[in-house]
Formats: sequence, C-alpha cells, structure tokens
Amino acid sequence: MEKIRVDLGENSYDICIGSGLLRGGNVLREKVEGQRIFIVSNCVVAEHYLDSVLHQFEGIDIDVHLMSDGEQFKTLQTLEAIIGDLLAKGHKRSTTIVALGGGVVGDTAGYAAATYQRGVPFIQVPTTLLSQVDSSVGGKTAVNHELGKNMIGAFYQPKGVYVDTDTLKTLPERELSAGLAEIIKHGVLADSHYFDAVEKDIGRLREKDEAALIRAIKGSCKIKAAVVAEDERESGSRALLNFGHTFAHAIETGMGYGQWLHGEAVGVGMVMAADLSARLGRCSIYDSKRIKALVERAGLPVSGPPEVSADAMLAFMAKDKKATDAGLRFVLIEGRIGKTEIVRDVPLRVLRETLEAGLRLCE
Ligand SMILES: NC(=O)c1ccc[n+]([C@@H]2O[C@H](COP(=O)([O-])OP(=O)(O)OC[C@H]3O[C@@H](n4cnc5c(N)ncnc54)[C@H](O)[C@@H]3O)[C@@H](O)[C@H]2O)c1
Ligand SMILES: [Zn+2]
Repeated sequence: MEKIRVDLGENSYDICIGSGLLRGGNVLREKVEGQRIFIVSNCVVAEHYLDSVLHQFEGIDIDVHLMSDGEQFKTLQTLEAIIGDLLAKGHKRSTTIVALGGGVVGDTAGYAAATYQRGVPFIQVPTTLLSQVDSSVGGKTAVNHELGKNMIGAFYQPKGVYVDTDTLKTLPERELSAGLAEIIKHGVLADSHYFDAVEKDIGRLREKDEAALIRAIKGSCKIKAAVVAEDERESGSRALLNFGHTFAHAIETGMGYGQWLHGEAVGVGMVMAADLSARLGRCSIYDSKRIKALVERAGLPVSGPPEVSADAMLAFMAKDKKATDAGLRFVLIEGRIGKTEIVRDVPLRVLRETLEAGLRLCE
C-alpha cells in the first residue's frame, strides 16, 4: 500500500493507495475513533463494493444511506435526507461518515459531515478515477444550487482517503477517460516528468493495468496534495488546478450540464488552453500538439462541440464567477509543459482565434 501525505497542519491526513484494499483486513478502520459509522453511497456502487466495506467494519455499529445516482442529486434535498437519516438513527458527533462512491457521493457526504452537528469525522473511499485523483483530495465539499454548481459548500478535510484501484474494474470506459483528463492536467500544470510518464503509460492506463494505475494515481495525488498544502482555501496558487477549466465550464454551460462528462469538457478545455498558450508565445507549438495528442489518446474529445459557438463561449466565460471577480483570467503554460501561471489581459482577438480553431469539427 502506498501513502501520500496531505500536509495541512492539524488537518493533515493520508491518502492510501493500493489494489485490494477493500478485499481483506480492516485498513478503513484505522481512522475511526467512535463505535458508529454512517456510510453514504449509491445503488450502483453499493452493489459492487458495499459488502467489502461492511466487512471492514465488522463489530461496530453501521448505518447505510443510499442516495440516488447522478449529479442532479447533488442537492440540498439529498443533504437534508442524509441529515434526517443521521438524526432519526440517533447519530452523535462521534459518528464517522464514510463516503463510498465517485465525486458526487464524496462531495455530498463530505458536506453532510462538515455540517452535521457542526462537523463530524469522515473518511473517503473514492471509486471513480476522477474522484481518486481529484475530488477526494483537498477537502472541497459541496452540493449544487439550481443557479450554480457547487454553490453551497465548505472546506472540510477527511481523516483519511482509501483508494482501492480494483474498484476501477467496474468503471465504464468513458468515466475512466474523464479521470484521465484530470491526470493529464496535473502533469501539464506542475510536473513535466509526470506528464512524460503518463504519455508512456496511456495505453496501459486505458487497459486498466494495475501498476500503471497505481503510478498515475499516486503521482496525481502527490501533485494535487502539494498544490493544496500551499493554498488550502484557494486564495492563490490553487487556482492553477483550473488549467483548461475556464474553457471547460463554458462548454458545459453552452451544452447544458449532463451532455458531456466534466472530464470530456476538460479534455477540449486543455487543448484550447494549450493552443492559446502557443498563440501567445508562452509555449511551443510542439508542446501544445503533444497535449492535444495525449488528450486524444486518453479517449477524450479534442474539439467541438459543434453546437456551441465562439460567441456563446465568450459570453459564458464573461459570466463565470471565477472569471468576473478579477476580469477574464486563464491558467496558461509558462514556457514548457510542467509550468503554468495565471494570466489576465488575454487579447480578445487571440482568444477568439483559439475558440474558433478548437470548436471546428475536423482540423
Ligand atoms: N471536491 C472537489 O475538489 C471536486 C473536484 C472535481 C470534481 N468534483 C465533483 O465530482 C463530481 C464528479 O465525480 P465523478 O466523476 O466521480 O462522477 P460520479 O460520482 O457521478 O460517478 C460517475 C458514475 O460512475 C458510477 N460509479 C462510481 N464508481 C463506480 C465504480 N467503481 N464502478 C462502476 N460505476 C461507478 C457512479 O455511480 C456514477 O454513475 C462532480 O459533482 C464534481 O463537481 C469535486
Ligand atoms: Zn475538473
């Protein structure tokens, strides 16, 4: 089992990564202090993995709450149902909440843990590649409001994160690719060696090769943990994790959420951010082509969607909360893959060129 430390002073914790973590032993118990746990999951994930998790906690009192599956259920209503269940079953502040599932379950259960009786301990058992390398690291928890994604939430760190790569065996291919988008992002923004390694391993990753998955997840968690340790509450450098995301959010808003997976929009978003970096002379055309090639090999779209226009994307970007706080800003490559910076004042003409090139169906 590999361990990555997320260094946040008294909120520090470990991410444990391995194959078969859930199958044997009781590693999940190490951070549970009380005698009761409350598992939050959904039917899809519970069908595969709930039994193994229950085994890990044999001998202590367990309640299970299954929420409906899907981003549309990451809501205050679901949160209220979870809190109601905790109260009805008499859970106290010593109960540990266990999130078993992808980012939707993790974000919702995490926010329930942050708010139930002003905060109870929680641990994460992420089961999608995206949640293993991204959403379970860094303590952002939230539910959506109909006027905006993740608009109700808190920074709240888990006591531990347990990544069993065996859970990826049942993950659909499209969801796997969506997780690869965030993995590629981590390489571009912070570590050229990691990017090289992912480039070499991309075929093995898509085949769910165990060793390749462990290498990639470990590397990604390390990068994200370092960024988060430097800026837990996103007052500065944590924003670099948004590489490709200003474009991605505009694509998601333009198409209506739920059409493309977030990771798919991030795929095109990264191709656009790399293209913009090259047009502004911030990186070589060679590097921007390398990024595009890797995104494509990860099984992600590299252009489109055809129904969204450059004008529509510009309008959505101007409305993006993160953008409007301090004018339109982008995370762009700084010289080479592995270094990024936040750039303001991108000339509109160049931005439009990037959008028009990126939205074209075939190049
Ligand atoms: N907190 C953060 O920092 C952060 C960062 C990135 C994304 N997010 C959030 O994460 C969410 C997306 O997470 P996601 O991509 O994991 O989506 P998800 O949780 O919706 O999971 C995707 C699908 O896969 C299913 N699934 C999960 N594990 C499975 C497994 N092992 N086998 C088969 N099916 C499985 C789920 O039931 C779901 O249908 C979004 O709400 C996003 O806002 C949060
Ligand atoms: Zn993302």
